[in-house]
Amino acid sequence: MSGTWGVIGGTGLSALDGLEIEGEDQVQTPWGEPSAPVVRGRIGGQLVCFLARHGHPHRIPPHRVNYRANIWALREAGVDRIIAVNAVGGIHPALGTGAFCVPDQLIDYTWGRASTFFEDDLEAVTHIDFTSPYDESLRQQLLGALRAHGHQCLPGGVYAATQGPRLETAAEIRRLERDGADLVGMTGMPEAALARELDVAYACLALVVNPAAGKATEVITMEAIEAVVHAGMQQVKAVLQQVLKASPRA
Ligand code: HPA
Repeated sequence: MSGTWGVIGGTGLSALDGLEIEGEDQVQTPWGEPSAPVVRGRIGGQLVCFLARHGHPHRIPPHRVNYRANIWALREAGVDRIIAVNAVGGIHPALGTGAFCVPDQLIDYTWGRASTFFEDDLEAVTHIDFTSPYDESLRQQLLGALRAHGHQCLPGGVYAATQGPRLETAAEIRRLERDGADLVGMTGMPEAALARELDVAYACLALVVNPAAGKATEVITMEAIEAVVHAGMQQVKAVLQQVLKASPRA
């Protein structure tokens, strides 16, 4: 099987409605168990495999996600392109709550996560080229779909991947801003690098669910985040359907 889409759902997206489900596979990988079964199906005739990053129901925090097993399981299912959906905090002034961003760069601040497939029993040491961490063609497809749905979007953005699970301090966000970051989330890495290691095209559709720490006067509450996630994920589903509809059939 080739030409299969992978969708990794983040916070608020643990199932993909509109997906005509054809099967569900509880996959075992050399790296352990993925967060949830891989749900196989079709949207508009396109083959799609969906995986809930935090499990279904949502129970795995960002630093405990088995990113290697997730990416491996999708690749095993024949996925050659992944759209990763991420809820993020907005740093750039254009990234207010409810805005979308399709980042073109990232900075990794995570630590202690299993972040490579290249560890033991190697025949050669491999260094992937990660100059451009996201697939440009997938990014353009996402931007096109967002615009078709009337969303104003920056052409890119720098995603800062933090360790979590706590949110950042205001000083940490100021530092990320000085580093050039536009949005901040906890799950963008090592996911993007692992996809590259397996040669799977990968792009991120980020929904801003709160102003990053210090960017607004209100305290960031889970209730406020959940309300934005709920409304925003309906739009994410529409955008995903648009991307699949606009793409040539597999
Ligand atoms: N920081 C880090 N990760 C996040 C945030 C945030 O403000 N909002 C949603 N995920």
